[in-house]
Parts: sequence; structure tokens; C-alpha cells
Amino acid sequence: METRRTRRTHWYVKLPFRERNCALQFDVPDIQNVVSFVSMARTKPLTEQVAIVTGGGTGIGRAFTEVLAAAGAQVVIASRRSDVLRRTADEINAMLGAERVFSRECDIRDRAGIEELVTDVLTRWQSIDVLINNSGLAVPETVEEITDEGWDKVMETNLRGVMQLVRAVLPHMRRNDFGDIVNVSSQAGKHGYADVPSYCASKFGLLGYAEALRDQLRKTDANIRVFNFCPGLVDVENIRPEQTPRAGFIHVSNMARTLMYALSLDRNVVLEDINLHAR
Ligand SMILES: NC(=O)c1ccc[n+]([C@@H]2O[C@H](COP(=O)([O-])OP(=O)(O)OC[C@H]3O[C@@H](n4cnc5c(N)ncnc54)[C@H](OP(=O)(O)O)[C@@H]3O)[C@@H](O)[C@H]2O)c1
Repeated sequence: METRRTRRTHWYVKLPFRERNCALQFDVPDIQNVVSFVSMARTKPLTEQVAIVTGGGTGIGRAFTEVLAAAGAQVVIASRRSDVLRRTADEINAMLGAERVFSRECDIRDRAGIEELVTDVLTRWQSIDVLINNSGLAVPETVEEITDEGWDKVMETNLRGVMQLVRAVLPHMRRNDFGDIVNVSSQAGKHGYADVPSYCASKFGLLGYAEALRDQLRKTDANIRVFNFCPGLVDVENIRPEQTPRAGFIHVSNMARTLMYALSLDRNVVLEDINLHAR
């Protein structure tokens, strides 16, 4: 948002909505209040938000799902294993005493399946406010061992799947002029590791794709933020609050807390690449 003083007691406020620039009159000392008001006008309480979390049935995705649902959002968790998704949804809903988590079988490599998922969520709730691209996998093949199948599986899941989901969801976020897209990359998206070259290539690629997406959103003045998580090792086995993570790993709750912090920032603030790892 851009502000500039036009006369002693008038400020020109360029609202970050398309075609809604206007001049407001107020006392100069009130400028901070006006700026806050304008920023607030672009937020939406989490209790009114709808999120899709891919891979939300397990690990990091489950931790994201729990924290979003606990904050009052409706959360659709999507991945291939419907039994795992249903169990997670039932457990979280029972814990909260409310139905906030909904499971949806979907292979993110399947374009038609993604379009169906997006259509169904929009039919039920009319918006998708948060998209968490968390699904991902690694095929441990060294540079000499890489198979076409292994390479394609990693790229189709970690990169093509994300692109397909963003492509399907973005028009609706634009229409509502509101959205947050959260990508789970990795420290393997910043550093190369000999045992998982295809995984590294996909996670580096995800960051490049996200940067281009962010640039496109900035150029078109969209109220849509893009966050990337680049975690080191996250313990997805010792997940209960009282459990200590294995040496070299962080507790998964740190991912959830960081997500909530990132989402809570003013709409004009984006934490770009969130690097977090054990000391
Ligand atoms: N744990 C770590 O140390 C760590 C560190 C850095 C980054 N990460 C990243 O964090 C994300 C979550 O990993 P995690 O550690 O929580 O492991 P995880 O529990 O194995 O989660 C991966 C999720 O991806 C889903 N998935 C895989 N292929 C899919 C497909 N084709 N379509 C839809 N969903 C698919 C899986 O569900 P289904 O099997 O039901 O499809 C699963 O729920 C991944 O992107 C991973 O690369 C993890």
C-alpha cells in the first residue's frame, strides 16, 4: 500500500485492491490508524478461512492441520491413502469436539483429481484461503543409480503436483482477493545431498517456482502471499508435546507454531524462505 500526503490534512491512499484507490481525509497524527485500518481490511479471521493441506494425514502436514483446525479454520486434508486421512480427521475432530477436518483422497499427480478436489471445496465453502503444498517424497537413488521411474515420481509429486494445485486454486484466490500459499521445500532445496539428488532437484525447483509465482502476484498486485518452509530434519515420529525429538531433529510442533506466526503477520508482510533446523 502506498500513502502520500497531498495537502496538510489529506493523504492519498493507494489501496492494494484493484481499482479502489481513493483519497481519505484525516488528521496527520492519525496516519498510523488509517494504515492499520487499511491493512486490517484485507485480513480475514482464521475462523472464516478454508485450508487445503496436502499430505495432511501424517507428519508435518498433520501438525499444520491440527493447529489450523484448533484456530477455527476448516481444513481439507488430501493425499492418496483415504484410511490414513480419515483416521487423522476423526482424531483431530474428536480432540476439538467439532468437525473442522475433512478428508479427501487425491493423488496430486493426477490433474483431473486436483480439479475435482478444488471444485468440491469451492462448492461447499466458496473459498480456498490457505493452500499448503506439503505432500512430498524422496527416492533415495544416487546420481549413478537414478532411474527414470524414480526421477519422474519425485518430480511429478514434489513439483508438478504443486504447480497443478496452484494453477487450479489461484483464480479463486484472485477472485476473492485473498490467499496464502505455503510450500514445504527443505534444506535439500538449499544444499545438495549425495543420497537424494532427485529430491534436491525437486526442492530447489520448488523454490524457483515459488519465486516466480511471488513475482507474478506482486506484478498483478494480488493480496496473496507465498511462504516457503525449508526445514532441516523434522521428527515425525516423536510428535506428542512431551516427547523429545531425536538428536539433530526438531520437534514437529515448531513447524506448526512457525506456520501460525507467518500467517499472523500483516498482509503486506511475507516471510519468504523459512529456514529452520536443529542447532
Ligand atoms: N520430515 C523431515 O525431516 C522433512 C524435512 C524437510 C522437508 N520435509 C518435507 O515435508 C513434507 C512432509 O513430509 P513428512 O516428513 O511429514 O513426511 P510424510 O509423513 O511421509 O508426509 C508426506 C505426505 O505426502 C503425501 N503424498 C505423497 N505422495 C503423494 C501424492 N502423489 N499425492 C498426494 N499426497 C502424497 C503422503 O500421503 P499419502 O501417502 O497418503 O499420499 C504423506 O502424507 C514433504 O514435502 C517433505 O519433503 C520433511
